[in-house]
Amino acid sequence: MLVSGAEILKNAHRDGYAVGAFNINNMEMLKAIFESANEMNSPIIVEASEGAIKYAGADMLYAMTKTLSERYPHIPVALHLDHGTTVESCIRAIRAGFTSVMIDASHDSFEENMAKTKAVVDIAHTVNVGVEAELGRLMGIEDNIVVDERDAVLVNVAEAEEFVKKAGVDYLAPAIGTSHGAFKFKGEPKLDFQRLQDVKRVTDVPLVLHGASSIPEEARQAFESTGGDLKGSKGVPFEFLTEAIKGGINKVNTDTDLRIAFMAEVRRVVNEKPSEFDPRKFFNPAMDSVKALIKKRMEVLGSAGRV
Ligand code: G3H
Ligand code: 13P
Ligand code: ZN
Repeated sequence: MLVSGAEILKNAHRDGYAVGAFNINNMEMLKAIFESANEMNSPIIVEASEGAIKYAGADMLYAMTKTLSERYPHIPVALHLDHGTTVESCIRAIRAGFTSVMIDASHDSFEENMAKTKAVVDIAHTVNVGVEAELGRLMGIEDNIVVDERDAVLVNVAEAEEFVKKAGVDYLAPAIGTSHGAFKFKGEPKLDFQRLQDVKRVTDVPLVLHGASSIPEEARQAFESTGGDLKGSKGVPFEFLTEAIKGGINKVNTDTDLRIAFMAEVRRVVNEKPSEFDPRKFFNPAMDSVKALIKKRMEVLGSAGRV
């Protein structure tokens, strides 16, 4: 059933687990997410970036999600706008039927971020749509980074408290050292778990981990065994996800892992069957591989068996 993101995350916050927020651009990724949720009895958040909306259209992404939510009525699902850059972009997503939106004004000043977030909250809450905002910059942190530099990029705990109180946001993404894509850490993976716990303590709302892909060894190997290049790639290890969830993370954003798992299979079929031209022969194994990855993730996040 299509429900508000706030409803899904309120339960996760109360019971101490996280829900996977999986990015989509097409029907195949969406189908893989829903089938995984059905097999694992897990709630899900389906998210689309502005780039995904440009690629597929908000109307089509909504229609496909709605259709699958009716095919699997027992699965709670939210359709979320990922990294909405303007108030208008959030309004367009709400009008298209999205049940959760992120206003990402984290690159603006604190005051500007607050004003834009508040504007979105005022509108979204009239139609039962959940709102996410972000504080700090998504950026890997180094072992030897000095405290002042860390303070400049990561979430500020006092600001987080004030922001949640005044903006009335439903869930917050605090920057604690992750970044988007396949190359998250130069040295050993490192996140600021203490800061995360402090933010949770003062805000007491569901928290979101962006840039949470793990680049599991099997997925990297599958991609590289087809001639792909992911040299130097590094993701967030599963143990870090577990620790982050203990620290208060309830929404775990994942895009890169799905892309790698999907494309490794497409590449394999391209290499192994040069005369194949039926797209389904590429996309069926690609969907299976994405499903295996998502199902494993649902176990790690603790969302499996929650419905
Ligand atoms: O946060 C970024 C997501 O991975 C979406 O990426 O803008 O390439 O669709 P995209
Ligand atoms: P990854 O690049 O780690 O998958 O992060 C995705 C994300 O944060 C989407 O908002
Ligand atoms: Zn993100």
